[in-house]
Amino acid sequence: MEHLAIIMDGNGRWAKARGLPRTEGHRAGGETVRRVLQYCRDANIRYLTLYAFSVENWKRPREEVDALMKLLVAYLAGEESMLHQNQVRLRVMGRREDLPPEARAALQHVEEATAGYERQLILCLSYGGRAEIVDAAKGLAKRIASGELQPEAIDEQTFAGHLYLPDVPDPDLIVRTSGELRLSNFLLWQASYAELYVTPVLWPDFGEADFKAALAAFEQRNRRYGGV
Ligand code: FPP
Repeated sequence: MEHLAIIMDGNGRWAKARGLPRTEGHRAGGETVRRVLQYCRDANIRYLTLYAFSVENWKRPREEVDALMKLLVAYLAGEESMLHQNQVRLRVMGRREDLPPEARAALQHVEEATAGYERQLILCLSYGGRAEIVDAAKGLAKRIASGELQPEAIDEQTFAGHLYLPDVPDPDLIVRTSGELRLSNFLLWQASYAELYVTPVLWPDFGEADFKAALAAFEQRNRRYGGV
């Protein structure tokens, strides 16, 4: 498998079950991110995409949003050396202009520092699948307005070329933790032929055995891409 994408869900429920504030669930979820990066290295997975913050997540209480942004900045400061050790390039996917300045600065710093590496950790931040498609449509419309592109020339490849990270291959497998059976606006375009795997395990509890079970399930699938 080349590209694994994960909807990291269940931090709030994990915290609630322990009588802890939701932000403690996110902190524990940050620990899982660290572990999963190691599993991906061991499994030789080149791209790992994580749904860390959706465009809809801005609707959460101010304290929770602030705590998530702080956690992101702390994670970046703490993990930069680990990204270098493992030769992982950090990339961001989403409307980064929505993020607070400290988060943008921290992201830009780590992105630049790791830009030369082959393996990639892609963080979806202020990300929405529909927003991405709308942003791609805007990009195309600008090129049409400037006379650079003819509407008739638009095909799937041209369209995909205007998505946020056009050089990244589509995910092979999308894993969702904590049991919900939906995509929740994640990678709508790119998910067309992805295999889906849902586990009831909450993200903070997601461990190596769960990771291996997801990969094993993927290996059992017979991907036909609409063929026979
Ligand atoms: C979903 O759980 C999780 C999030 C909205 C945030 C994901 C963030 C992290 C895992 C930690 C920070 C990430 C990085 C990259 C350092 P939920 O709050 O929706 O859980 P619930 O559905 O149980 O309420």
